[in-house]
Amino acid sequence: TKKAVLGPLVGAVDQGTSSTRFLVFNSKTAELLSHHQVEIKQEFPREGWVEQDPKEILMSVYECIEKTCEKLEQLNIDISNIKAIGVSNQRETTVVWDKITGEPLYNAVVWLDLRTQSTVENLSKRIPGNNNFVKSKTGLPLSTYFSAVKVRWLLDNVRNVQKAVEEDRALFGTIDSWLIWCLTGGTNGGVHCTDVTNASRTMLFNIHSLEWDKELCEFFEIPMKILPNVRSSSEIYGLMKAGALEGVPISGCLGDQSAALVGQMCFRDGQAKNTYGTGCFLLCNTGRKCVFSEHGLLTTVAYKLGRDKPVYYALEGSVAIAGAVIRWLRDNLGIINSSDEIEKLAKEVGTSYGCYFVPAFSGLYAPYWEPSARGIICGLTQFTNKCHIAFAALEAVCFQTREILDAMNRDCGIPLSHLQVDGGMTNNKILMQLQADILYIPVVKPSMPETTALGAAMAAGAAEGVGVWSLEPEDLSAVTMERFEPQINAEESEIRYSTWKKAVMKSMGWVT
Ligand code: G3P
Repeated sequence: TKKAVLGPLVGAVDQGTSSTRFLVFNSKTAELLSHHQVEIKQEFPREGWVEQDPKEILMSVYECIEKTCEKLEQLNIDISNIKAIGVSNQRETTVVWDKITGEPLYNAVVWLDLRTQSTVENLSKRIPGNNNFVKSKTGLPLSTYFSAVKVRWLLDNVRNVQKAVEEDRALFGTIDSWLIWCLTGGTNGGVHCTDVTNASRTMLFNIHSLEWDKELCEFFEIPMKILPNVRSSSEIYGLMKAGALEGVPISGCLGDQSAALVGQMCFRDGQAKNTYGTGCFLLCNTGRKCVFSEHGLLTTVAYKLGRDKPVYYALEGSVAIAGAVIRWLRDNLGIINSSDEIEKLAKEVGTSYGCYFVPAFSGLYAPYWEPSARGIICGLTQFTNKCHIAFAALEAVCFQTREILDAMNRDCGIPLSHLQVDGGMTNNKILMQLQADILYIPVVKPSMPETTALGAAMAAGAAEGVGVWSLEPEDLSAVTMERFEPQINAEESEIRYSTWKKAVMKSMGWVT
């Protein structure tokens, strides 16, 4: 049969904490043509530890690419139309591997992992100069969340890592670096690079000079020779070395939250988006200025779409646990069999009946940055059942977003008039309505929620030497949106929110 003729296509890997996806878009219409998704295992070897297998992550990428290509063939779409591939990824998660054997030297230490709590405490006692040393260079607080302390832990505790560093065989990377190195050939000429957005989450990168910072590397005692080359978010890094897309350039790379900002077309100062994935991340574009928060938000690199293009920055409110609480209800409590059942349970009751669930499984991130917090469910009575707990879990996601939106409004001075949202959880209509009620502003969701992948595809398609995607705003305006308006009154919303804050206070100080 004759193959459908389409414009140039662009693929995107979206490697998140919970799953990997590969998606293919039409570069002229931004239409999603096909995709495949694979869930990723998480290992919890000790309390507070979270690991993943870097090989499983890599295999999931190959599997998603192969399956998507098969689906395209079934649709009579010629995969030779795929002109570029973008990579977006869970950020901060740390891999160290051996460049001679190509083998990871330890599991990936996931961003949520808390094992470095004592490393952080020890380091914070010897910060040089004033306490602003790390924050002023990186935009980040000294926290277990970022890669530098994870690398430090690996160097201190894993003999294979120490040995490989001594023998000059070790490479460090976040998931983007690991994937790009493997996909471009691995031991056979793989390219060891990262982009400015991912680099800005390591706590080793100077967000002003856009270079690895020598003083920070000395402070964390991390050898600079293991760090990847830092590139822009949109340029050709290398070619796919194997598989159905062999020879296609990889030409876009962004941390997933930056990719979503691009995919939501938040290119102007003051435009913001909130992505509901494993965690929840609200990013507001601050243009070419580095804005430092007074209210617990991070300053981060938003994107740099080309070698000679300017860098843009964002303020970020990071919530560690959003979709992860639903996975926990499924895997640890077994009150649902699949994540989408949560909506049905919550709908049955339509209220938490005074039950509050603070899912501080990895401490609390923004705006508190409180590693001593742990999860609590409170306000229980004999009347409480699993439906109320399900509802409280959804409400927790919304309350946490409210806290970061409040912080963002205070830092920016101009309150957001609506919230642009995306990510897997936004298919849950109860969640979206609750979110509008709790924020008391409209919540707006694009009809195509895969904005993370779209952002990575846009960066890849727009790269110099590829040139199949134009980032001019007029090309990007035809996106249809679904809107959720607040339905409860502001007073009711405030009462619920202030009880939530009481619950948050109770979650703190569990670990000393
Ligand atoms: O900073 C962590 C973030 O990038 C993880 O994203 O999509 O897995 O929640 P996600």
